[in-house]
Amino acid sequence: MAKSRIEHVCTDCGTTHTKWAGQCSGCGQWNTLVEEVAIASVPTIAPAGAAAPIGRIDPQTSAPRPTGVDELDRVLGGGLVPGSVTLLGGEPGIGKSTLLLQVLAAAGGTSLYVTAEESAQQVRLRAERLDAVRPDLWLLSETALPHLVNAIDDTRPELVVVDSIQTVHDPALGSPPGSVVQVRGCAQQLVNAAKQRGIPVVLVGHVTKEGSLAGPRVLEHVVDTVLAFEGERHHALRLLRATKHRFGPTNELGLFEMAGHGLIGVPDPSELFLGDRRTGIPGSCIAPTIDGQRPLMIEVQALTTPAPPNVPARRTTQGIDSNRMALLLAVLQQRARVPTAQHDVYASTVGGVRLAEPGLDLAACLAIVSAMSDIPLPPDLVAFGEVGLGGEIRQVAHTPRRLAEASRLGFKRAIGPRNAPEPEASNLRLIRVATLPEAIAAAGLRG
Ligand code: TYD
Ligand code: MG
Repeated sequence: MAKSRIEHVCTDCGTTHTKWAGQCSGCGQWNTLVEEVAIASVPTIAPAGAAAPIGRIDPQTSAPRPTGVDELDRVLGGGLVPGSVTLLGGEPGIGKSTLLLQVLAAAGGTSLYVTAEESAQQVRLRAERLDAVRPDLWLLSETALPHLVNAIDDTRPELVVVDSIQTVHDPALGSPPGSVVQVRGCAQQLVNAAKQRGIPVVLVGHVTKEGSLAGPRVLEHVVDTVLAFEGERHHALRLLRATKHRFGPTNELGLFEMAGHGLIGVPDPSELFLGDRRTGIPGSCIAPTIDGQRPLMIEVQALTTPAPPNVPARRTTQGIDSNRMALLLAVLQQRARVPTAQHDVYASTVGGVRLAEPGLDLAACLAIVSAMSDIPLPPDLVAFGEVGLGGEIRQVAHTPRRLAEASRLGFKRAIGPRNAPEPEASNLRLIRVATLPEAIAAAGLRG
């Protein structure tokens, strides 16, 4: 007979406490502890198999199988591994259900979509919009875990999606649906079910800032792969990244555009980002950046206006870290004598991309100087490099890939760090600079 007691569990990281506290000792978050009934019984688990010599293990059984959605396969390093469990996390409305319905439709073979959130009719309507109504795509509207596992055995699918893990519950666990005990317990049972049957399972997990639902962070240890689906709600661009991946690298970036008929992969993001660009306008600079392994040409835009006297100058950023921007403005002021302190500065990256990449520093600085001096940069110029506190331009990783992408898109000149390697493309000239004032002069601007 299971014995139960009360414990206090953090909805964010899952740390348990015997007493309630305002702050979680595990992750430091405030007001995330909730009261839950802990089940003291230990479930019995069947042995997964006997020990065997390593040479006799067949590596092919855990080879990834392509899902048919290229951008997802890119992030996963080939596809989904049989028997693995993947968590797809993201804010509500970002497109998790849409992506997975498209994956199930593209996968081929029998697949099962368990909807624990929406009705089967709602999912069917969405599937029509996505052209995903396929004879071998099975739909189950169910929230109880035992029924869900039974349905897997009845339909024998090759791929299962559970949307979402926060709305599935196991009556045997006692706690209310959505609680940490439920979410973690159900995920653990689905991991066992996936392993025993050799079926890949994808779980949807909502990330909410309020912490009212058990955050997917409590699941990170339980699953094999964690994918994060991000994007600005008012932009069509969606970014997919693996934050944990037992079967491959975690530095690949997948890009999608949310369109009227679902998500469309973006194999050439640079063209998308530069599509609306207008040349000859002061305050714009193109940066050849790298996200994971992927080169992205990003336009940095800046606008400056004289600040009213006796009020702190205003700094507003979008897509660029505001602390980084404050640092760059201080370096411009002190090391290049650009009077940033007397100006309100607005800076953004175009297209709704958020970038924390040091290679963007120099382009951000040149965009600001261009805006302040009202001189546009040459249309065929890109700039990259990290800006140090001494005003020096520092080397960044993957320079050849940055320059190759710039050259492919027709740029002719690149301003970069002094130690940058020579570009492979002969139609791109690299202008090496050691300091910020040198870079400003090389770009044809006045500091
Ligand atoms: P959804 O997949 O339901 O998000 P999540 O499961 O992460 O909560 O997607 C919701 C948003 O996507 C919704 O605002 C409508 C939009 N959308 C499109 O723009 N095009 C489409 O084809 C579909 C299906 C949804
Ligand atoms: Mg959804």
